[in-house]
Amino acid sequence: MLNSLRQYPQTRLRRTRLHPWARRLVREHTLTVNDFIWPLFIVKGEQQRQAITTMPGVYRLSIDVLVEEVKQAQALNIPAIALFPMIDQSLKDPQGSEALDPNNLLCNAIKALRAANLDIGIICDVALDPYTDHGHDGVIINNEVDNDATIEILCQQALIQAQAGCDIIAPSDMQDGRIGAIRQALDQHDLSNTMILSYAAKYCSNFYGPFREAVGSQANLSKKTQNPLLGSKASYQQDIANSEEALHEVALDLNEGADLIMVKPGMPYLDIITKIKQTFKVPTFAYQVSGEYSMLQNLSQQDGQDFQKLMLETLISFKRAGADGIFTYAAKEIASFLQTTNGNKIY
Ligand code: PBG
Repeated sequence: MLNSLRQYPQTRLRRTRLHPWARRLVREHTLTVNDFIWPLFIVKGEQQRQAITTMPGVYRLSIDVLVEEVKQAQALNIPAIALFPMIDQSLKDPQGSEALDPNNLLCNAIKALRAANLDIGIICDVALDPYTDHGHDGVIINNEVDNDATIEILCQQALIQAQAGCDIIAPSDMQDGRIGAIRQALDQHDLSNTMILSYAAKYCSNFYGPFREAVGSQANLSKKTQNPLLGSKASYQQDIANSEEALHEVALDLNEGADLIMVKPGMPYLDIITKIKQTFKVPTFAYQVSGEYSMLQNLSQQDGQDFQKLMLETLISFKRAGADGIFTYAAKEIASFLQTTNGNKIY
């Protein structure tokens, strides 16, 4: 049908590409600051801004510095941030007990942001990997990450985060049934307005490496283990070769009460975003993960390419795929870029 309607030479698709104004006029997708969620790493102490060697331009921030950064994010109109704590190795144990201390680093960060009266959404990961000495997202029983025992802990973790003032609980642990259990726990504690963003389709990816360095779970995860099941997260994260399974994951999580859906990583899984969006028509987010960010930084450094242009090209690809929002470590940089160019001269 497309062919019979338009033919060369009557039709020349280059005509609408000639002038910048014409390109703007026929542009199908737009990227604005409203699309961004900015993930941030927290570390204890004061006046800390620790470089993460595998992620150029990304830092672990102490709470005082975090508050200042988030004020800037709010001034740029970034709608939400996502917080990830780097916990002292000495506080990690097999159960991830530190996750359940209402005065842990993450909860204190949430409270400090709330005290600063910021009008910005706060999203917190629910998973035990920053807190366990083995680096897994749950507890290990009989040489396996135990689904149901993990869920019980995750419910408590979600509760203390919501009680500290977190707006959106984001389970990234990939246990079965955790969304329903967390929803119930929140509702029973008068937290029915707290949203759940389910990392519904989270793949067992090799692109998480720099993040694991940032929160200090990589070395723990790769410690020699008797059980090959425990050397990676493959026994609970999704197989990278599957796409229909992602739709089942999303269906289950929506039935259990998820408000928002996440696909993770981003760039290698654009097809999954499109399928989910077309099938369920619910708010769907992409997480451009640490390895993707670092890949673009490295290309820009080695090749002399403009990082912002590389980044913009990848961010618009998420919009084309159908994502409603994007977690990106470049959120602040790109938000200020869009502001200076009035959102117009992006390509
Ligand atoms: C942990 C979690 C991970 C990321 C977000 N939450 C890593 C993992 O599953 O090992 C990765 C984010 C990134 O790579 O930027 N539950």
